[in-house]
Amino acid sequence: MSVLTIDLTDPDVFVEQRHYGMFAWLRANDPVHWHTTADGGGFWALSAYDDIAAVYNDHTAYSSEGGPMLGGSFRSQADPSAGRMLVASDPPRQRMIRQAVHRAFAPAVVKRIARQVTELVDAAITKAVDDGGCDFATDIATELPAGAVMAMMGVSHRQAHELIDLTRRMIGFRDPVFGDTSDDERLRLAVIQAEIFEFFSDIIRDRRKNPGEDLVSYLLQAETNGRPWPEELVLYNCMNVAVGGNETSSYTACAGVLALHEHPRELELLRASPDLTESAVNEILRWSSTNAYVMRVATQDTEIGGKQIRAGDSVTLWNVSANRDESQFPDADTFDITRSPNRHLSYGVGIHRCIGAIVAQTELGILFRKLTDSGLRFSLDGEVRRLRSNFIQGITQMPLRMQR
Ligand code: HEM
Repeated sequence: MSVLTIDLTDPDVFVEQRHYGMFAWLRANDPVHWHTTADGGGFWALSAYDDIAAVYNDHTAYSSEGGPMLGGSFRSQADPSAGRMLVASDPPRQRMIRQAVHRAFAPAVVKRIARQVTELVDAAITKAVDDGGCDFATDIATELPAGAVMAMMGVSHRQAHELIDLTRRMIGFRDPVFGDTSDDERLRLAVIQAEIFEFFSDIIRDRRKNPGEDLVSYLLQAETNGRPWPEELVLYNCMNVAVGGNETSSYTACAGVLALHEHPRELELLRASPDLTESAVNEILRWSSTNAYVMRVATQDTEIGGKQIRAGDSVTLWNVSANRDESQFPDADTFDITRSPNRHLSYGVGIHRCIGAIVAQTELGILFRKLTDSGLRFSLDGEVRRLRSNFIQGITQMPLRMQR
């Protein structure tokens, strides 16, 4: 592929999975690449591990207030999520919001999540085996976030799936699988966001009367300078946890099953050595790079790899490329469940490093232990369909044959 044909804003960029060659070329030849856009503007695309880690770690020169995504609803500085939603805020507000949100990731909550996810995954696998197979993407993978949402937010299985349907539509806003894509993208995102807010508004009304041990109750108890948070701050951060956690963990689960299917020796090794599960999950995270990139905006004139970055420039950090950088990962294009060290950037790094990483590790650990335990066999049984998105690499359909 000629590098001149790259369009990193194209929602089809990952559909055919031909981008690894392109990123290898960029890392070798133009690691700090100025990517022009159709409107005459552009953004920086960083592809080398060390440059990307350096920008993640410099939250003074690179702001998160433009949100993590190019274009879409989070781009403009006028977007009301700036400074209100954890992922779209800078210190000191980021520290204050993160502290409050952190209560929902305490060890006792993670234990509850583990119990709920185990129950749902067991039931989903049993049903798939009874039926001879399933669509893993919709029948099993979505039970990971469902269990987490139930345990973290104190809602029913039905409500959890209602929320997952909404966040799927938000992340998949450019994919016709999730609805009509012919109208205005911003409008579509605004409508889905309003539906997510409506979902949480109902829960907020209930928790004001009946507080419990859940995210919404914790955020309703949060205070800044002795004053309770305005409701919009509660809403934005409930949405952040839901959008941050629902699709990432389920799409990573799909990518992991596909990787093990395509690397039968690694699958056999994992079956024979369940102790490798944690290491396998980390390799699956590196391999899948579900959150393909995040964005920052330069707050001052600065320099990366000899290129002048101007204040106000958008800078994109391509995790998907950093995770295949040979300078950090020997034999980077080899899927190796014993890889060590494995300092992948799939959760980012620095002050915004994924607050839900402990939840994702727990969910994925449970799933891959169950899938590789004695006697269970799975194989691909039809076409894999990939999400149309340049932000999240996902699999929306993956028929599997399953038997014991
Ligand atoms: C495989 C699963 C996951 C992946 C690949 C992933 C990826 C990421 C990445 C790359 C960031 C950093 C964003 C940035 O620096 O701008 C992040 C932050 C975040 N993630 Fe995750 N995530 C995952 C699971 C989860 C889960 C399960 C939750 C919640 C239950 C969650 C909630 C969040 C939140 C709230 C933030 C913002 C943290 C902050 O800005 O301080 N994530 N995630």
